[in-house]
Amino acid sequence: MNVKQTVLAGMLAAGLGLAGCDVITSSQKGGAVERLFGTTSDGQAVKLFTLKNKNGAELQVINFGAIVLSLKVPDRNGQLADVTLGCDQLSDYESKTPYFGAVVGRYGNRIAKGQFTLEGQTYTLATNNGPNALHGGLKGFDKVVWQAQAVQASDGPAVEFSYLSKDGEEGYPGSLAVKMVYTLTDKNEFKIQYTATTDKPTVVNITHHSYFNLAGAGEGDILGHEIMINADRFTPVDATLIPTGELKPVQGTPMDFTKPMAIGARVNQDDEQLKFGGGYDHNWVINQKEAGELTAAVRVVEPKSGRVLEVLTTEPGVQFYCGNFLDGTLTGKGGKVYKHRYGFCLEPQHFPDTPNHTNFPSCVLQPGQTYTQTTIYRFSTVK
Ligand code: GLA
Repeated sequence: MNVKQTVLAGMLAAGLGLAGCDVITSSQKGGAVERLFGTTSDGQAVKLFTLKNKNGAELQVINFGAIVLSLKVPDRNGQLADVTLGCDQLSDYESKTPYFGAVVGRYGNRIAKGQFTLEGQTYTLATNNGPNALHGGLKGFDKVVWQAQAVQASDGPAVEFSYLSKDGEEGYPGSLAVKMVYTLTDKNEFKIQYTATTDKPTVVNITHHSYFNLAGAGEGDILGHEIMINADRFTPVDATLIPTGELKPVQGTPMDFTKPMAIGARVNQDDEQLKFGGGYDHNWVINQKEAGELTAAVRVVEPKSGRVLEVLTTEPGVQFYCGNFLDGTLTGKGGKVYKHRYGFCLEPQHFPDTPNHTNFPSCVLQPGQTYTQTTIYRFSTVK
C-alpha cells in the first residue's frame, strides 16, 4: 500500500469507527511500523507507530499528545503484558483521559493561581485545577498533534517528535520549539530525550505521564508494588498541592522510600500530606550528585510477576502519583475498568510551582540556551 492508499484506508477506517484496526498497513521505517490511528475531532490525521526490539518488547505510540498507547514487557517467565493504562479510541484521549501515557508541558505540574512573573512581567495562565494551573493548560502538549517520524537509533527503533508551541500559547511567553526522541532500546528501556529552544525568556517543565501497573493494565491495584525512591527530601504541599517552599527530610514520614516499601503500606495513614494528596501525589527531591546528571531515581518491583521498573533521569525531581483520582468511571483498553489506584505515575520534572520559588532549581529557558532532559524507564525482572 502506498502512502496515499494508507491515508485513505485510515480515513475510511476512522470514519467507520475502526480506528486502530489491524487491516490498515503502512510503511516500515527503521524498526517501527507506521499506520493511521484515527482522525481528531478537528480533522487531523493521527499516526500510530509500533516499535519492537530484539527481545520482543513492544511500544506503541501515537503522535496525538505523543501518547504511549501500550508498552509490552516480559515477566520473570518471559510472558509479555501491557504495563501501561490507556484507551482504545482517539476520542477518549481527546476528551476523557487523565493524561494517560502523554507528554505534559509546557509546564508540567502546578503553577500557583496560574500566575508567575518573569523578568518583571506577570503572565496569567488558565486555572484548570482548583485555583491553580496544571499540566500546561487547557490544551497542553498532551492534546496537540506532533510532527512525527520513525527512525532507527543506534540502540533500537525510535520515533522523533517535534512541536512548535507558539508565543502566547496557553499564556506562556516565547515560541518554544520542542523535540523528543522515544526509543525502545534493546535493553528493554523506554528512553525519552527532550530538547527545546525559545525566542524569548520562558519557563519549561516537560514530563511524561504514563500510568504503570507492572502486573498488567487493569489487573488490580498497584498497592502491592514495592517502590524505592532515591530521595532524602520531598517538597511538602498546601491543601491545593502547591509546595510550601520547604525541602523536607522524608525520614520518619510516610514519604520515606529510601528503602523498598509497598505503595499501600502507609498510603492511608493519618498524615496531613497524604490527606492533601488523597494519597501519594508529591514531588521527591532526587539525590543527584550533580545537577543534570543521569541518576537512578526510582525502582519499583511487582512481586507476583517479577517485573521491575527503574526510572533514571537528568531532572532534579520526580512526582510520584499513585492513581488517587482513578475511581472506576473510566473504561480502558480492552474494556477493563480502572479503579482506585490501578496505576501509578513517575513524572520526572522540575519541582511544582518553580516559577514562584526562587530556592528551587530554575526552570527558566533563555534564547540561545537549549533545554535538555533524558529520562529512561528501564524494565527487567527479579526471581
Ligand atoms: C499529576 C498530578 C495529579 C493529577 C494527575 C492527573 O500527577 O500531580 O494531581 O493531576 O497528574 O490526574
